[in-house]
Amino acid sequence: MPITLPREMTGAELQSMLKSSVNFKSLGGMRVPGLKLGEEDLAWWRSAKVGMFIHWGLYSLLGRGEWARFNEKLPYHEYEALKDAFDPRDFSTDEWAETARDLGANYMVMVTRHHDGFALWNSPGSYLNFDSAHSAAGRDFVKEFTDSCRKYGMRVGYYYSPMDWRFPGYFDPKGLKDNALKMKTQCYRQVEELVTNYGAPDILWYDGGWLAHKGSDTSSSWFWEPDKLNKMVRSHAPKAVINPRSGWEGDFYCDEGSKELSGKIITVPWEKNLCLCSGASWGWMENDPVRDLDWLIRMTVNVICRDGNILWNIAPDKSGKLSDEIHARIRELGSWIRQNGEAVYGTRGGPVEPVDGVFGTTFRENIVYLHILDAAEFAKQRINGLPGKVLSARTLDGNEIAFSENDDGYCFDISCLLPETDVVVKLTLDARVKATVSEVYFSGKG
Ligand code: GLC
Repeated sequence: MPITLPREMTGAELQSMLKSSVNFKSLGGMRVPGLKLGEEDLAWWRSAKVGMFIHWGLYSLLGRGEWARFNEKLPYHEYEALKDAFDPRDFSTDEWAETARDLGANYMVMVTRHHDGFALWNSPGSYLNFDSAHSAAGRDFVKEFTDSCRKYGMRVGYYYSPMDWRFPGYFDPKGLKDNALKMKTQCYRQVEELVTNYGAPDILWYDGGWLAHKGSDTSSSWFWEPDKLNKMVRSHAPKAVINPRSGWEGDFYCDEGSKELSGKIITVPWEKNLCLCSGASWGWMENDPVRDLDWLIRMTVNVICRDGNILWNIAPDKSGKLSDEIHARIRELGSWIRQNGEAVYGTRGGPVEPVDGVFGTTFRENIVYLHILDAAEFAKQRINGLPGKVLSARTLDGNEIAFSENDDGYCFDISCLLPETDVVVKLTLDARVKATVSEVYFSGKG
Protein backbone atom coordinates (compact mmCIF):
# COMPACT_ATOMS: atom_id res chain seq x y z
CA MET A 1 0.00 0.00 0.00
CA PRO A 2 1.26 3.52 -0.69
CA ILE A 3 3.04 5.19 2.17
CA THR A 4 1.72 8.36 3.74
CA LEU A 5 4.18 11.21 3.66
CA PRO A 6 5.14 13.21 6.76
CA ARG A 7 3.52 16.64 7.11
CA GLU A 8 6.58 18.64 6.21
CA MET A 9 9.52 17.63 4.05
CA THR A 10 11.95 18.79 1.37
CA GLY A 11 11.99 17.63 -2.24
CA ALA A 12 15.18 15.66 -1.56
CA GLU A 13 13.51 13.86 1.33
CA LEU A 14 10.58 13.02 -0.91
CA GLN A 15 12.89 11.61 -3.56
CA SER A 16 14.82 9.50 -1.12
CA MET A 17 11.79 8.25 0.78
CA LEU A 18 9.97 7.20 -2.39
CA LYS A 19 13.15 6.21 -4.26
CA SER A 20 11.65 8.54 -6.79
CA SER A 21 13.04 10.37 -9.80
CA VAL A 22 10.33 13.00 -9.44
CA ASN A 23 11.66 16.52 -9.08
CA PHE A 24 8.97 18.96 -8.00
CA LYS A 25 9.52 22.57 -8.95
CA SER A 26 8.88 25.66 -6.88
CA LEU A 27 8.97 24.12 -3.41
CA GLY A 28 8.82 26.27 -0.32
CA GLY A 29 5.98 28.43 -1.65
CA MET A 30 4.15 30.88 0.55
CA ARG A 31 1.38 29.32 2.66
CA VAL A 32 -1.87 31.25 2.66
CA PRO A 33 -4.77 30.14 4.86
CA GLY A 34 -7.93 29.41 2.92
CA LEU A 35 -6.45 29.55 -0.58
CA LYS A 36 -5.68 25.90 -1.26
CA LEU A 37 -8.42 23.77 -2.76
CA GLY A 38 -9.53 20.62 -0.98
CA GLU A 39 -9.68 17.14 -2.50
CA GLU A 40 -13.35 17.53 -3.43
CA ASP A 41 -12.53 20.52 -5.64
CA LEU A 42 -9.66 18.65 -7.26
CA ALA A 43 -11.81 15.62 -8.05
CA TRP A 44 -12.51 16.57 -11.68
CA TRP A 45 -8.85 17.36 -12.30
CA ARG A 46 -7.69 14.07 -10.82
CA SER A 47 -10.23 12.13 -12.91
CA ALA A 48 -9.30 14.00 -16.08
CA LYS A 49 -5.75 12.56 -15.98
CA VAL A 50 -4.59 13.78 -19.39
CA GLY A 51 -4.15 17.36 -20.59
CA MET A 52 -2.68 19.11 -23.61
CA PHE A 53 -0.30 22.05 -23.20
CA ILE A 54 0.21 24.52 -26.06
CA HIS A 55 3.27 26.72 -26.47
CA TRP A 56 2.55 29.13 -29.29
CA GLY A 57 3.29 32.82 -29.68
CA LEU A 58 5.50 35.33 -31.50
CA TYR A 59 8.48 33.06 -30.92
CA SER A 60 6.77 30.46 -33.13
CA LEU A 61 7.53 32.72 -36.09
CA LEU A 62 11.24 32.20 -35.51
CA GLY A 63 11.09 28.45 -34.92
CA ARG A 64 13.94 28.43 -32.42
CA GLY A 65 12.02 27.85 -29.23
CA GLU A 66 10.20 30.17 -26.80
CA TRP A 67 13.42 31.47 -25.26
CA ALA A 68 14.80 32.85 -28.59
CA ARG A 69 14.34 36.50 -27.62
CA PHE A 70 16.46 36.15 -24.52
CA ASN A 71 18.93 33.48 -25.62
CA GLU A 72 19.84 35.26 -28.84
CA LYS A 73 19.72 38.74 -27.26
CA LEU A 74 17.45 39.87 -30.08
CA PRO A 75 17.21 43.68 -30.31
CA TYR A 76 14.04 45.03 -28.70
CA HIS A 77 12.53 46.52 -31.87
CA GLU A 78 13.41 43.55 -34.02
CA TYR A 79 11.46 41.23 -31.76
CA GLU A 80 8.54 43.66 -31.26
CA ALA A 81 8.23 43.98 -35.05
CA LEU A 82 7.34 40.30 -35.28
CA LYS A 83 3.83 41.25 -34.28
CA ASP A 84 3.33 42.85 -37.68
CA ALA A 85 4.00 39.46 -39.25
CA PHE A 86 1.88 37.49 -36.78
CA ASP A 87 -1.17 36.61 -38.84
CA PRO A 88 -2.16 32.93 -38.87
CA ARG A 89 -5.01 33.33 -41.35
CA ASP A 90 -6.23 29.81 -42.01
CA PHE A 91 -6.11 28.78 -38.44
CA SER A 92 -8.84 28.09 -35.94
CA THR A 93 -8.39 27.09 -32.30
CA ASP A 94 -11.01 24.40 -32.99
CA GLU A 95 -8.13 22.50 -34.61
CA TRP A 96 -6.29 22.49 -31.28
CA ALA A 97 -9.38 21.27 -29.46
CA GLU A 98 -9.81 18.51 -32.07
CA THR A 99 -6.18 17.54 -31.54
CA ALA A 100 -6.72 17.45 -27.78
CA ARG A 101 -9.73 15.21 -28.34
CA ASP A 102 -7.61 12.95 -30.57
CA LEU A 103 -5.02 12.77 -27.79
CA GLY A 104 -7.65 11.73 -25.26
CA ALA A 105 -7.10 14.89 -23.21
CA ASN A 106 -9.77 16.33 -20.96
CA TYR A 107 -8.18 19.70 -20.39
CA MET A 108 -6.01 22.14 -22.27
CA VAL A 109 -3.51 24.67 -21.00
CA MET A 110 -2.63 27.44 -23.45
CA VAL A 111 0.38 29.68 -23.01
CA THR A 112 -1.45 33.01 -23.00
CA ARG A 113 1.71 35.04 -22.44
CA HIS A 114 5.25 33.74 -22.15
CA HIS A 115 8.38 35.50 -20.85
CA ASP A 116 8.67 37.50 -24.11
CA GLY A 117 5.69 39.59 -22.97
CA PHE A 118 3.43 39.07 -26.00
CA ALA A 119 -0.15 38.49 -24.85
CA LEU A 120 -2.42 36.36 -26.98
CA TRP A 121 -5.54 38.31 -26.14
CA ASN A 122 -6.84 41.84 -26.26
CA SER A 123 -5.11 43.02 -23.13
CA PRO A 124 -5.52 46.64 -21.98
CA GLY A 125 -3.17 45.73 -19.11
CA SER A 126 -0.34 44.91 -21.49
CA TYR A 127 2.56 47.33 -21.30
CA LEU A 128 2.64 49.17 -24.65
CA ASN A 129 -0.23 47.11 -26.12
CA PHE A 130 1.99 44.17 -26.90
CA ASP A 131 -0.81 41.77 -27.67
CA SER A 132 -2.43 39.83 -30.48
CA ALA A 133 -5.31 42.30 -30.87
CA HIS A 134 -2.63 44.88 -31.79
CA SER A 135 -0.78 42.52 -34.13
CA ALA A 136 -1.37 41.84 -37.81
CA ALA A 137 -3.84 39.14 -36.73
CA GLY A 138 -6.04 41.58 -34.81
CA ARG A 139 -7.53 38.62 -32.93
CA ASP A 140 -8.13 37.53 -29.36
CA PHE A 141 -6.71 34.01 -29.37
CA VAL A 142 -7.46 33.39 -25.70
CA LYS A 143 -11.14 34.03 -26.38
CA GLU A 144 -11.04 31.78 -29.43
CA PHE A 145 -9.22 29.09 -27.45
CA THR A 146 -11.66 29.29 -24.55
CA ASP A 147 -14.66 29.06 -26.88
CA SER A 148 -13.12 26.03 -28.61
CA CYS A 149 -12.40 24.29 -25.30
CA ARG A 150 -15.98 24.75 -24.18
CA LYS A 151 -17.34 23.64 -27.54
CA TYR A 152 -15.30 20.42 -27.38
CA GLY A 153 -15.90 19.72 -23.69
CA MET A 154 -12.33 20.48 -22.63
CA ARG A 155 -11.59 22.17 -19.30
CA VAL A 156 -9.90 25.56 -19.81
CA GLY A 157 -6.39 26.26 -18.55
CA TYR A 158 -4.25 29.38 -18.93
CA TYR A 159 -0.48 29.48 -18.54
CA TYR A 160 0.80 32.92 -17.61
CA SER A 161 4.34 34.14 -16.95
CA PRO A 162 4.48 36.95 -14.34
CA MET A 163 7.97 37.92 -15.49
CA ASP A 164 8.56 39.75 -18.76
CA TRP A 165 11.97 40.27 -20.39
CA ARG A 166 10.89 43.62 -21.83
CA PHE A 167 11.33 45.30 -18.46
CA PRO A 168 14.88 46.25 -17.49
CA GLY A 169 13.53 46.20 -13.93
CA TYR A 170 13.11 42.45 -14.24
CA PHE A 171 16.89 42.12 -14.40
CA ASP A 172 17.49 44.63 -11.61
CA PRO A 173 14.35 44.75 -9.44
CA LYS A 174 15.97 46.68 -6.60
CA GLY A 175 17.98 49.17 -8.69
CA LEU A 176 15.22 49.81 -11.24
CA LYS A 177 12.39 49.51 -8.79
CA ASP A 178 9.85 51.69 -10.60
CA ASN A 179 10.29 49.77 -13.80
CA ALA A 180 10.03 46.44 -11.98
CA LEU A 181 6.83 47.65 -10.33
CA LYS A 182 5.37 48.41 -13.77
CA MET A 183 5.95 44.75 -14.63
CA LYS A 184 4.19 43.73 -11.42
CA THR A 185 1.24 46.00 -12.21
CA GLN A 186 1.04 44.46 -15.65
CA CYS A 187 1.00 41.00 -14.06
CA TYR A 188 -1.88 41.81 -11.71
CA ARG A 189 -3.91 43.50 -14.44
CA GLN A 190 -3.35 40.75 -16.97
CA VAL A 191 -4.11 37.91 -14.57
CA GLU A 192 -7.30 39.74 -13.61
CA GLU A 193 -8.21 40.05 -17.29
CA LEU A 194 -7.63 36.34 -17.79
CA VAL A 195 -9.80 35.27 -14.88
CA THR A 196 -12.65 37.68 -15.66
CA ASN A 197 -12.85 38.19 -19.44
CA TYR A 198 -14.04 34.77 -20.53
CA GLY A 199 -15.68 33.31 -17.45
CA ALA A 200 -13.63 31.62 -14.74
CA PRO A 201 -10.91 29.31 -16.07
CA ASP A 202 -10.60 25.81 -14.65
CA ILE A 203 -6.82 25.94 -14.35
CA LEU A 204 -4.30 28.73 -13.85
CA TRP A 205 -0.78 27.64 -14.62
CA TYR A 206 1.93 30.16 -13.69
CA ASP A 207 5.55 29.94 -14.77
CA GLY A 208 8.35 32.38 -14.12
CA GLY A 209 7.98 33.92 -10.68
CA TRP A 210 11.71 34.30 -10.29
CA LEU A 211 13.59 37.58 -10.90
CA ALA A 212 16.72 38.32 -12.93
CA HIS A 213 16.91 34.62 -13.82
CA LYS A 214 18.04 33.80 -10.33
CA GLY A 215 16.50 31.55 -7.70
CA SER A 216 13.24 29.73 -8.16
CA ASP A 217 9.59 30.64 -8.59
CA THR A 218 9.28 30.93 -4.84
CA SER A 219 12.34 33.03 -4.02
CA SER A 220 10.84 36.28 -5.28
CA SER A 221 7.56 36.24 -3.42
CA TRP A 222 8.69 39.39 -1.53
CA PHE A 223 8.25 41.11 -4.89
CA TRP A 224 5.21 39.45 -6.47
CA GLU A 225 3.18 38.97 -3.27
CA PRO A 226 1.55 35.82 -4.60
CA ASP A 227 -0.85 35.77 -1.64
CA LYS A 228 -2.44 39.01 -2.86
CA LEU A 229 -2.33 37.91 -6.48
CA ASN A 230 -4.03 34.59 -5.84
CA LYS A 231 -6.57 36.04 -3.42
CA MET A 232 -7.61 38.28 -6.29
CA VAL A 233 -7.77 35.20 -8.56
CA ARG A 234 -9.88 33.29 -6.02
CA SER A 235 -12.31 36.22 -5.77
CA HIS A 236 -13.15 35.67 -9.45
CA ALA A 237 -12.34 32.00 -9.95
CA PRO A 238 -12.82 30.37 -6.54
CA LYS A 239 -12.42 26.84 -7.83
CA ALA A 240 -9.65 27.26 -10.39
CA VAL A 241 -6.92 24.67 -9.91
CA ILE A 242 -3.68 26.66 -9.53
CA ASN A 243 -0.13 25.37 -9.91
CA PRO A 244 2.67 26.25 -7.45
CA ARG A 245 4.76 28.43 -9.71
CA SER A 246 3.63 31.90 -8.64
CA GLY A 247 5.45 31.70 -5.30
CA TRP A 248 2.31 30.54 -3.46
CA GLU A 249 2.31 26.82 -2.66
CA GLY A 250 -0.61 26.13 -5.04
CA ASP A 251 -3.09 23.29 -5.37
CA PHE A 252 -0.80 20.67 -6.93
CA TYR A 253 2.87 20.00 -7.58
CA CYS A 254 4.70 20.14 -10.90
CA ASP A 255 7.31 17.78 -12.27
CA GLU A 256 8.63 19.26 -15.48
CA GLY A 257 10.42 17.59 -18.36
CA SER A 258 11.05 14.31 -20.11
CA LYS A 259 13.06 12.55 -17.42
CA GLU A 260 11.95 8.94 -16.96
CA LEU A 261 9.81 8.38 -13.93
CA SER A 262 10.62 5.81 -11.28
CA GLY A 263 9.84 5.13 -7.63
CA LYS A 264 6.77 4.77 -5.47
CA ILE A 265 3.27 6.21 -5.57
CA ILE A 266 3.20 9.92 -4.77
CA THR A 267 0.42 10.76 -2.35
CA VAL A 268 0.09 14.48 -3.07
CA PRO A 269 -1.72 15.90 -6.12
CA TRP A 270 0.82 16.28 -8.91
CA GLU A 271 1.20 16.70 -12.65
CA LYS A 272 4.03 15.92 -15.01
CA ASN A 273 4.33 18.34 -17.92
CA LEU A 274 6.53 17.34 -20.81
CA CYS A 275 6.92 17.53 -24.57
CA LEU A 276 5.63 15.15 -27.19
CA CYS A 277 8.82 15.94 -29.14
CA SER A 278 12.43 15.95 -27.96
CA GLY A 279 11.91 18.54 -25.23
CA ALA A 280 14.81 20.68 -26.49
CA SER A 281 12.32 23.54 -26.35
CA TRP A 282 8.61 23.95 -25.63
CA GLY A 283 7.92 26.31 -28.54
CA TRP A 284 8.10 25.29 -32.18
CA MET A 285 11.42 24.17 -33.69
CA GLU A 286 11.60 22.81 -37.19
CA ASN A 287 12.43 19.09 -37.37
CA ASP A 288 12.11 18.55 -33.63
CA PRO A 289 11.98 14.73 -33.44
CA VAL A 290 8.71 13.27 -32.22
CA ARG A 291 8.96 10.67 -29.44
CA ASP A 292 8.08 7.12 -30.40
CA LEU A 293 4.77 5.66 -29.35
CA ASP A 294 6.26 3.12 -26.98
CA TRP A 295 7.98 5.90 -24.98
CA LEU A 296 4.81 7.99 -24.85
CA ILE A 297 2.69 5.10 -23.59
CA ARG A 298 5.25 4.07 -20.97
CA MET A 299 5.51 7.62 -19.68
CA THR A 300 1.71 7.90 -19.44
CA VAL A 301 1.48 4.59 -17.58
CA ASN A 302 4.34 5.47 -15.25
CA VAL A 303 2.65 8.76 -14.31
CA ILE A 304 -0.88 7.44 -13.74
CA CYS A 305 0.35 4.46 -11.73
CA ARG A 306 2.07 6.96 -9.41
CA ASP A 307 -1.17 8.93 -9.09
CA GLY A 308 -0.20 11.85 -11.29
CA ASN A 309 -1.76 13.73 -14.19
CA ILE A 310 0.10 14.10 -17.47
CA LEU A 311 0.18 17.32 -19.51
CA TRP A 312 1.54 16.76 -23.02
CA ASN A 313 3.03 19.83 -24.67
CA ILE A 314 2.63 20.47 -28.37
CA ALA A 315 4.25 23.31 -30.30
CA PRO A 316 2.25 24.54 -33.28
CA ASP A 317 4.20 26.35 -36.00
CA LYS A 318 3.76 30.02 -36.89
CA SER A 319 0.47 29.33 -38.61
CA GLY A 320 -0.86 27.49 -35.56
CA LYS A 321 -0.55 24.08 -37.25
CA LEU A 322 1.08 20.81 -36.29
CA SER A 323 2.98 18.59 -38.69
CA ASP A 324 1.32 15.46 -40.08
CA GLU A 325 3.83 13.38 -38.16
CA ILE A 326 2.88 14.96 -34.84
CA HIS A 327 -0.81 14.58 -35.62
CA ALA A 328 -0.31 10.94 -36.47
CA ARG A 329 1.55 10.27 -33.23
CA ILE A 330 -1.10 12.07 -31.19
CA ARG A 331 -3.77 9.90 -32.78
CA GLU A 332 -1.78 6.76 -31.96
CA LEU A 333 -1.26 7.73 -28.35
CA GLY A 334 -4.88 8.89 -28.06
CA SER A 335 -6.21 5.67 -29.45
CA TRP A 336 -4.18 3.72 -26.90
CA ILE A 337 -5.47 5.96 -24.10
CA ARG A 338 -9.07 5.66 -25.25
CA GLN A 339 -8.85 1.91 -25.78
CA ASN A 340 -7.62 1.53 -22.21
CA GLY A 341 -9.74 4.44 -21.00
CA GLU A 342 -11.41 2.60 -18.15
CA ALA A 343 -7.96 1.88 -16.69
CA VAL A 344 -6.95 5.54 -17.06
CA TYR A 345 -9.76 8.08 -16.58
CA GLY A 346 -11.36 8.38 -13.19
CA THR A 347 -8.78 6.08 -11.65
CA ARG A 348 -6.20 6.69 -8.95
CA GLY A 349 -2.66 5.38 -8.81
CA GLY A 350 -2.14 2.22 -6.74
CA PRO A 351 -2.85 0.44 -4.49
CA VAL A 352 0.15 -1.79 -5.32
CA GLU A 353 3.51 -0.03 -5.42
CA PRO A 354 4.92 -0.03 -8.96
CA VAL A 355 8.01 -2.00 -9.87
CA ASP A 356 10.08 0.25 -12.16
CA GLY A 357 9.89 -0.84 -15.78
CA VAL A 358 7.79 -3.92 -14.93
CA PHE A 359 4.28 -2.98 -13.81
CA GLY A 360 2.09 -0.57 -11.86
CA THR A 361 -1.56 -0.33 -10.88
CA THR A 362 -4.50 2.04 -11.06
CA PHE A 363 -7.86 1.55 -9.36
CA ARG A 364 -11.45 2.61 -9.08
CA GLU A 365 -13.64 1.37 -6.22
CA ASN A 366 -13.16 -2.43 -6.09
CA ILE A 367 -11.46 -2.71 -9.48
CA VAL A 368 -7.67 -2.72 -9.80
CA TYR A 369 -5.96 -2.48 -13.19
CA LEU A 370 -2.55 -4.06 -13.62
CA HIS A 371 -0.48 -2.14 -16.19
CA ILE A 372 2.17 -4.60 -17.31
CA LEU A 373 5.15 -3.04 -19.07
CA ASP A 374 7.43 -6.08 -19.15
CA ALA A 375 5.56 -9.39 -19.42
CA ALA A 376 8.62 -11.61 -18.87
CA GLU A 377 9.62 -9.83 -15.66
CA PHE A 378 6.02 -9.62 -14.53
CA ALA A 379 5.71 -13.42 -14.75
CA LYS A 380 8.27 -13.61 -11.90
CA GLN A 381 6.36 -11.18 -9.64
CA ARG A 382 4.11 -11.94 -6.70
CA ILE A 383 1.49 -9.22 -6.27
CA ASN A 384 0.98 -7.97 -2.73
CA GLY A 385 -0.76 -5.02 -1.21
CA LEU A 386 -4.30 -5.58 -2.48
CA PRO A 387 -6.83 -4.66 0.20
CA GLY A 388 -9.10 -7.65 -0.56
CA LYS A 389 -9.38 -10.96 -2.32
CA VAL A 390 -9.24 -11.16 -6.12
CA LEU A 391 -12.57 -12.47 -7.39
CA SER A 392 -11.68 -12.39 -11.07
CA ALA A 393 -8.93 -11.34 -13.49
CA ARG A 394 -9.79 -10.44 -17.08
CA THR A 395 -8.50 -8.49 -20.02
CA LEU A 396 -10.42 -5.30 -20.80
CA ASP A 397 -12.30 -7.18 -23.51
CA GLY A 398 -13.38 -9.84 -21.04
CA ASN A 399 -10.99 -12.80 -21.50
CA GLU A 400 -10.29 -14.70 -18.30
CA ILE A 401 -6.75 -14.67 -16.94
CA ALA A 402 -5.69 -17.57 -14.76
CA PHE A 403 -4.29 -16.69 -11.35
CA SER A 404 -3.20 -18.36 -8.16
CA GLU A 405 -2.49 -17.22 -4.63
CA ASN A 406 -0.11 -18.39 -1.97
CA ASP A 407 1.50 -16.83 1.11
CA ASP A 408 3.73 -14.62 -1.04
CA GLY A 409 0.84 -13.04 -2.95
CA TYR A 410 -0.91 -13.42 -6.27
CA CYS A 411 0.53 -14.70 -9.49
CA PHE A 412 -1.17 -13.97 -12.85
CA ASP A 413 -0.62 -16.00 -15.97
CA ILE A 414 -0.57 -13.60 -18.91
CA SER A 415 1.25 -15.94 -21.29
CA CYS A 416 -1.86 -16.03 -23.50
CA LEU A 417 -1.68 -12.26 -24.14
CA LEU A 418 0.11 -10.60 -27.01
CA PRO A 419 3.15 -8.66 -25.85
CA GLU A 420 2.24 -4.98 -26.07
CA THR A 421 3.79 -1.91 -24.50
CA ASP A 422 1.20 -1.94 -21.76
CA VAL A 423 -0.91 -5.02 -21.18
CA VAL A 424 -3.86 -4.18 -18.95
CA VAL A 425 -5.48 -6.79 -16.69
CA LYS A 426 -8.60 -5.93 -14.72
CA LEU A 427 -8.94 -7.42 -11.25
CA THR A 428 -12.24 -7.42 -9.40
CA LEU A 429 -11.77 -7.46 -5.63
CA ASP A 430 -14.16 -8.22 -2.83
CA ALA A 431 -13.31 -4.88 -1.19
CA ARG A 432 -13.06 -1.25 -2.23
CA VAL A 433 -9.68 0.38 -2.50
CA LYS A 434 -9.18 3.75 -0.83
CA ALA A 435 -6.85 6.43 -2.14
CA THR A 436 -4.04 7.53 0.11
CA VAL A 437 -3.71 11.31 0.25
CA SER A 438 -1.04 13.08 2.28
CA GLU A 439 -1.26 16.69 3.30
CA VAL A 440 2.31 17.78 2.94
CA TYR A 441 4.06 21.08 2.92
CA PHE A 442 7.33 21.08 1.02
CA SER A 443 9.40 23.44 3.05
CA GLY A 444 12.43 24.01 0.96
CA LYS A 445 14.68 23.27 -1.93
CA GLY A 446 16.15 20.03 -3.09
C1 GLC B 1 10.27 26.20 -18.19
C2 GLC B 1 10.70 26.97 -19.42
C3 GLC B 1 9.58 27.56 -20.14
C4 GLC B 1 8.42 26.62 -20.36
C5 GLC B 1 8.08 25.91 -19.08
C6 GLC B 1 7.04 24.84 -19.21
O1 GLC B 1 9.96 27.01 -17.13
O2 GLC B 1 11.59 27.99 -19.06
O3 GLC B 1 9.99 28.11 -21.33
O4 GLC B 1 7.34 27.38 -20.75
O5 GLC B 1 9.18 25.36 -18.51
O6 GLC B 1 6.84 24.20 -17.99
